[in-house]
Amino acid sequence: MGYEAIPFLKTGNGLHFVYHEWGGSLTTTLKAAAGFTMTINIRICHDNETMYYFKNKTAIITGSTSGIGKGVAEALHAQGACVMLSGRDTEKGKSICDQLGSNARFLAGDVKQPGYNKRLVEEAIQSFGSLDMVVMSAGQLGIGKIDQLSLEDWHDTIATNLNAVFYLFKYAIPHLRKAKGSVVIMGSVAALHAFPGHPAYTASKGALPALVRQMALDYSPDIRINLVSPAQVVTPLLTDSIRAFENPEDILDETSRKLPMKRLGTVDDIAHTVLHLLSENAGWITGSNFVVDGGFLAT
Ligand SMILES: NC(=O)c1ccc[n+]([C@@H]2O[C@H](COP(=O)([O-])OP(=O)(O)OC[C@H]3O[C@@H](n4cnc5c(N)ncnc54)[C@H](OP(=O)(O)O)[C@@H]3O)[C@@H](O)[C@H]2O)c1
Repeated sequence: MGYEAIPFLKTGNGLHFVYHEWGGSLTTTLKAAAGFTMTINIRICHDNETMYYFKNKTAIITGSTSGIGKGVAEALHAQGACVMLSGRDTEKGKSICDQLGSNARFLAGDVKQPGYNKRLVEEAIQSFGSLDMVVMSAGQLGIGKIDQLSLEDWHDTIATNLNAVFYLFKYAIPHLRKAKGSVVIMGSVAALHAFPGHPAYTASKGALPALVRQMALDYSPDIRINLVSPAQVVTPLLTDSIRAFENPEDILDETSRKLPMKRLGTVDDIAHTVLHLLSENAGWITGSNFVVDGGFLAT
């Protein structure tokens, strides 16, 4: 029997093995010498099932020192990908990289700088030999109504949320073409819905559906490019965003109550969609905007 005991995924009731070649699953109970009993779920799957979709593939993930980008990087790495992490916070980046261990690298820098995006691509190629996937999750809010917002904050927000997409994609194109690669960009429901005091954010996110359609048209069939547009997901950015509301202490409870799905989003909710879009299962999807919002836009 050919099998791989890695990754061991923790489940609610024990360890989760992944075997290859066979389909099905079984549960077994181990009695340890120390006297405790452990239940182990063994998931047996074919090689083309969910696990190891990304073995021998390389991904750059911007904004991977926190929140959604970090969750996506961890999920890709768990499924066999080599990951190139990015963010300005060197301490956080190094610590996540150390936790992931092999097949993870971190390059600190500011996505507003074209040169940093170029180095990110070069570093990924030098470290892992190819570039198959790019996930752009770096983002900033630039909170303040227009009369309160400084020119600098306006420009920084547009540069982080929009210009950086242009820079990183531009440098990644030759490698993504070669790999028949896939790109996912993090948009927001703010492209379609106004929030108090978020003009720079809504404008920068509002440009992304148009840019993604254009990129998809210009680079098909070699590179697939899609947008994922979350609503309220529990991350530091969401905590920061509520400062702009009149009732910051209540707004998240209120939002959660009003959402059709009756809860805020999690990083995993978004990571699942991103991984699907990056995978070969999404081989006929490009130029699309995937709203992942617990029903927010339906209200
Ligand atoms: N959370 C939500 O409710 C929500 C909803 C819709 C869309 N989104 C979008 O999802 C993406 C991820 O947000 P999040 O919620 O995960 O926020 P987060 O936890 O605050 O993470 C933001 C990430 O972006 C990085 N970043 C910001 N500015 C950067 C810059 N100039 N250069 C390099 N890295 C930069 C940060 O890294 P450093 O601090 O290390 O620089 C951090 O890793 C964003 O594009 C956001 O707009 C989030």
